[in-house]
Amino acid sequence: MSAIIINGGNRLSGELNIQGAKNSVLPVLAATVLCGGECVIHNCPELSDVETSIRILAHLGCFCLRDGNSIIVNSSGMNSFEIPDVLMREMRSSVVFLGAIIGRTGRAVISSPGGCELGPRPIDLHLDALSKMGVVIKEERGFLNCTAPGGLHGAEIHLSFPSVGATENIILAAAVAKGSTVIHNAAKEPEISDLADFLNSAGARIYGCGSDTIEIHGVNSLNGTEHTIIPDRIAAATYMAAAAVTGGTLTLNNVMPSHLVAVMWVFRECGCVVEPYGKTIVLRAPERLKRVPTVRSQVYPGFPTDAGPIVIAMLTKADGTSVFAENIFQNRFRYIDELRRFGAKIKTEDRVAVVEGVPRLSAADAECTDLRGGAALVIAALAANGTSEITQIQHIERGYDNITGCFSSIGADISLKK
Ligand code: EPZ
Repeated sequence: MSAIIINGGNRLSGELNIQGAKNSVLPVLAATVLCGGECVIHNCPELSDVETSIRILAHLGCFCLRDGNSIIVNSSGMNSFEIPDVLMREMRSSVVFLGAIIGRTGRAVISSPGGCELGPRPIDLHLDALSKMGVVIKEERGFLNCTAPGGLHGAEIHLSFPSVGATENIILAAAVAKGSTVIHNAAKEPEISDLADFLNSAGARIYGCGSDTIEIHGVNSLNGTEHTIIPDRIAAATYMAAAAVTGGTLTLNNVMPSHLVAVMWVFRECGCVVEPYGKTIVLRAPERLKRVPTVRSQVYPGFPTDAGPIVIAMLTKADGTSVFAENIFQNRFRYIDELRRFGAKIKTEDRVAVVEGVPRLSAADAECTDLRGGAALVIAALAANGTSEITQIQHIERGYDNITGCFSSIGADISLKK
């Protein structure tokens, strides 16, 4: 079982290029199923979730090849509409293939994605919307058997919650449906706009991404295209937090500061100087961070839930007590027990974490519970005195491309133990 070994306490400073966004490359790879010709996707991070998506595409009969940071997909040979249970279980966000497979073949069979480390992950909003577009869904033996007997047609859809995945699935199905679809209360995350940019470059007609209302006018077919994935805003926040908690100075290249407004605000609140210019952010940390009275996770453009564990880890050494309210997922605090092993003083009640800053953390052996919780443990270990060992790092490998290489390039004493 591999592990990450960290001798903490180093000030982390230097320059980093940020990876492509995991939560953009996954829906874009699913969208290639809709495109009749060859698609070339650039700036794809090397992540286990991306490898799983490539295996799903191959299983569906698509040609799929990674060439460095680019992935070439040609779905013209697609010959299946089923995603096997084992692949669905490997990555619950495979549910985003649903809209694309139905859009291409008129059918889809996937297993219910079930819950994950963050608590129940229902897909009722996805299924309700697809039903309004003509999809008949039979749930049997844990599988969703979807057909579109009369073909996919446009619909007016109001999401009771601006779900990212549901918004993506609707866009994918609507792109080639008959007629037009309007999504009210749509998710506004940058990854949605990136998906729409990809599809529009292939001939789709999608308008309004980044706002509450998205309009999609269905077209008969989509062609192959080329696209570059946006930078990963959560990976950027992760490296910023590590530099902040160790009193470092960090230059991040290939980022989109406009995607990180709420995040940069929190870093400024705790005493960092954060200067965005162009596709670069420079962060200068104080000797010791100040507390941040309250941080609340919200849908975009609010503070992102995925950066919650990262910022909580950073604030464990702040001067004073900070409060973090998680408003998106039911059970996103499982990693906090592991964080306490480093001497962090955190009380949780329901979805609120009260973080009492301590002057120092001490090394510990800890186990990752989920992707961003695992990143939080790495940040704590980098800030702690002594040698820590972090296990169950498969969670981290889902979302961070070469995290040990990135951290060691800015001065961390970190290594992978196979
Ligand atoms: C996406 O998940 C991201 N994953 C998550 O990132 C991210 O935390 C989340 O959006 C919120 O920003 C990918 O893009 C692959 P949601 P998704 O649908 O689409 C409830 C990471 O760390 N809900 O916006 O699953 C749901 O239970 C991951 O990279 C329903 O009730 O998020 C949750 O409480 C973690 N019914 C809330 O909405 C539904 O049909 C947010 O879910 C769908 C969602």
